[in-house]
Parts: sequence; structure tokens; C-alpha cells
Amino acid sequence: MSEVARRVAEAADLVTVALDELLPRADGPESRLTEAMRYAALGPGKRLRPYFVLETGRMFELEERPLLRAACALECVHAYSLIHDDLPSMDDDDLRHGRPTVHKAYDEATAVLAGDALQAAAFEILAHPDTHPDGATRAELILRLAAAAGARGMCGGQMIDLLGVRDDLGAVARMQRMKTGALIACAFELPLAMAHLGDPERHALMAFAQDLGLAYQIVDDLLDAEGDPDLMGKRAGKDAAMGKANYVTLLGAEAARQRLQILVEQTKSHLDPFGEQADFLRASVDFVLQRRN
Ligand code: IPE
Ligand code: IPE
Ligand code: MG
Ligand code: MG
Ligand code: MG
Repeated sequence: MSEVARRVAEAADLVTVALDELLPRADGPESRLTEAMRYAALGPGKRLRPYFVLETGRMFELEERPLLRAACALECVHAYSLIHDDLPSMDDDDLRHGRPTVHKAYDEATAVLAGDALQAAAFEILAHPDTHPDGATRAELILRLAAAAGARGMCGGQMIDLLGVRDDLGAVARMQRMKTGALIACAFELPLAMAHLGDPERHALMAFAQDLGLAYQIVDDLLDAEGDPDLMGKRAGKDAAMGKANYVTLLGAEAARQRLQILVEQTKSHLDPFGEQADFLRASVDFVLQRRN
């Protein structure tokens, strides 16, 4: 196992344990909802967004506890986005993480509510004084996550994805940056909100995060076209079947891979100002983009 793989696995374990403590326990007459939330959020996701929160925070020598809570909040929004993405009214998927999707394991109404409640849980975690002693910093964290999740971020991108973008790579890139890039970029914005950096470093890291987010979704689209569904734990071939516009359905896999290669080099170059301090972040770009699941 590479050092990056070991660090990703370690971060995933930390976040899963912390999420287990933070999410409401399944009891009371509403336990069907809390069970569904736990089913979605504690399942075997890769936890890459939390990994980036922790790794970036370490780079800035931030304390682990606030970072871990911020990482959990972001993962709650991600888990919610997947529950809703899989609904029959959206991508209509019945398999996620190698198990039935939430609306299959429970029912549609429960899946809608579990997504809603995970989103609320995310903001409850961030707003809690345990996340950061300084109220202004907590407000900044909330603002960043809300912006990434909302109409100009993930939800807006999902809307464009559903409406469909035709034959225009610029519009596809914008949609990808919103639906996936915004939450990936948020993994860097949360530690940035806790660190007090100068503008040049902030801009460099945000440029890195933006390009990484786009690259991440292109890999997802390549996996949809060519990946092994057993390894991915979700169905393949759905994007073409549903007429979704993305780099792979518009350009073909080979051309999408070439664009991805250029984008990956560009992504890493944004880390130059950080020198050796960013070695793990640099190495994690290749790790994340070479993923098979
Ligand atoms: C899946 O994201 C949906 C996208 C935004 C590409 P991930 O691949 O990061 O989700 P996990 O690891 O299954 O939770
Ligand atoms: C999902 O993109 C992006 C989200 C905001 C959840 P996809 O629809 O391609 O994700 P998968 O392939 O179902 O994981
Ligand atoms: Mg989708
Ligand atoms: Mg989907
Ligand atoms: Mg996909």
C-alpha cells in the first residue's frame, strides 16, 4: 500500500468513527429516518472529501478536532447528494456502494427525508461550538458549505445535469464544476477558513481545488463508460443510456482521457507555491484520479 493510500484509509477510519458518534442514534418512532441516514452516511464510501479536509488542515498545522468535525459535515452533504442523485426522479439507480440505494433499502419518502436530515445535520455540526471556538470562523465554515451545496454549487449543477447540456464542452465543464467540483473544492475551503493565509496562497489552493473537482468528475464519467461495476459498487453505462452530456459521451473515452491528462498536470502545477509542504496533496492527485471505484 502506498503512503497516500495508507493516509486515505486512516482518514476514512477516523471520519467513519466520528460520523458514527455525531449522527443521531436509531431510536424513537422516527428511527426509520435515523437508520436510513446512518445506512447512507456510514456505508463504504471512499471519504475522499474528508481526506482532503484533513490533509489540507495538516499542511496548515491546524488542530485535528475542528478539522474532523468539518470533514464530517462535508461528508454528510455528500451522502445526502448521493441519496437524492439516485432517486427515481433523478438518476434512478438501485445500487450504490455495492448495496441497494436508500430508496430501495427503505422507500422514496424515507430517502428524501434522510437526504434532507443529513444536510441539516451538516450545518448543525458546523454551527456547534465544538467545531471552532470562534463564532465568526464557524459562520465562515457554514457560508462556504452552504454556497458549495446550493443553487450556484452542487444543486445548480445537478439541475443542469438533469436538463441536459448539448454539444458544448464549456457548458459541460461548468456543470461538472458545479455538481461535483463545488463540494470537492469545499474540502479545501473549510481548512482555508480556519487558517489565516495570504491571498496568493489562498488563490493557488482554490485554483488547485477547482481543477481537481473537474478532473474528479471526468474520472467518474470514464468509470461509468469503462469501469468494472463490481469494483465500483454502482451500475456502469448509465450516462450514455440516459443521454447525459459529459466529456466522455461528447468526446469519446480516448479524447476525454487526453483532456484529463492535461488537466491533471495543470491541477498539480497550482501547488508549486507550496513546495514540499504540499507533497502529500500532490501525490494524492494521482491516487485519486487513478481510482477504479
Ligand atoms: C460520486 O462521488 C459522485 C461524484 C460526485 C463523482 P464519490 O465517488 O467520491 O463517492 P463515494 O466515494 O462513493 O462516496
Ligand atoms: C453525481 O454525479 C454528482 C452529485 C452531485 C451527486 P453522478 O450522477 O455521475 O454520480 P454517480 O455516478 O451516480 O455516483
Ligand atoms: Mg447524477
Ligand atoms: Mg448518478
Ligand atoms: Mg457518474
